Amino acid sequence: MKQYLVIGNPIEHSLSPLIHNYWIKKHHLADSVYKKRKVEEKDLKNIIKEIRNDEIVGVNVTVPFKKLIIPFLDKLDFAAEETQSVNTLFKINNKVIGYNTDSAGFWDSIKELYPKNKDTMILGSLKNKKIFILGAGGVTPSIISALKKEGANIILSNRTKEKAEELKKLFPELEIVEWGKKPSSCDIVINTTSVGLKKNEDIEIDFSSYDKKTLFYDLIYNPKETVFLKKARLRGNKAINGKMMFLNQARYAFNIWTDILPKIDDEVIKLLDE
Ligand code: ATR
Repeated sequence: MKQYLVIGNPIEHSLSPLIHNYWIKKHHLADSVYKKRKVEEKDLKNIIKEIRNDEIVGVNVTVPFKKLIIPFLDKLDFAAEETQSVNTLFKINNKVIGYNTDSAGFWDSIKELYPKNKDTMILGSLKNKKIFILGAGGVTPSIISALKKEGANIILSNRTKEKAEELKKLFPELEIVEWGKKPSSCDIVINTTSVGLKKNEDIEIDFSSYDKKTLFYDLIYNPKETVFLKKARLRGNKAINGKMMFLNQARYAFNIWTDILPKIDDEVIKLLDE
C-alpha cells in the first residue's frame, strides 16, 4: 500500500484526506491511501525516516511544522527556500525534498481577477497594486512570495510586531504597520490570521472607508464566511475565502507525488461545502 499523510497539530479538522482520497479514487490508484497523523516536534525526524524507508510516499505538512521540518530535509524547491515554509514532502533519488505549493495555490486562486496585459507582462499583473496583509503566521510567507512575483506593493500588519519584523528579514521590501492601523486605501486586503476560525470572531479593524473595488480575501474556508468577509460583502465589496487556495495547493502536491494533475471539478469543490 502506498501511504500518504498530512501531519500537524492539531490535525483532527484537516480536510486534506477527504480531497486526496477523492482524487486517489477518481484516478483509480487502488494501492494508495491518504491519512492524517497528529505529531509532536520530536516525531518529525521519524517521519522523514519513514519516507526514506518507503513506508510513506508523500506528506503534507501543516501548522505548526511548516518551518520546523526544514532542518530534516535534504533539499528545498525554490518557493520553499524563499518562504522558509514547506507543505509537501517527496523523495527523489534518495533525497527527501521539501516543496511549497501554498504559494502557487494562492496565486491560482486569484489570478483570473488580475489578468496580465501589455503593461504588466514583465513584472506581472499586480504591478504597483497595494496589498494589505493581516497576520504573520505559518502561511503568510507563501502569500507574500506569490504577490511579490507579480510586482505588488505589500504592507503587512501583525499583532506581535516582532513576527512581522522577522518576515521582513525574508522579504525586505515589506512595509510594516502597527496592528490596528491600516493604509488609507488598497486594492486587496488579505486575512492570514486565525481570527475568524471561531464563529463570530472579528478582526477589530474598520475597513468601511475603503473603496468598493477593494477585494477582501480570507484564507479561512471553514467557516465559509468569516465576519471579516461578511462585513466586506455587506458593504458591496468582493469577498473570497481560502477554499480555492486550499484545493490548488492540494492539487499541486498530488501532482508532485503521482504525476497526475487532478481537475478541480464541482464535485471536489462540493466536498468542502459539506
Ligand atoms: P503560527 O504563528 O504558529 O504559524 P498561525 O495560525 O499560522 O500560527 O498564525 C496565527 C496568526 O494569527 C498570527 O499572525 C497571529 O498573530 P500573533 O503573531 O500576534 O500571535 C494571528 N492571531 C491569532 N489570534 C489573533 C488575535 N486574536 N488577534 C490578532 N491576531 C491574531
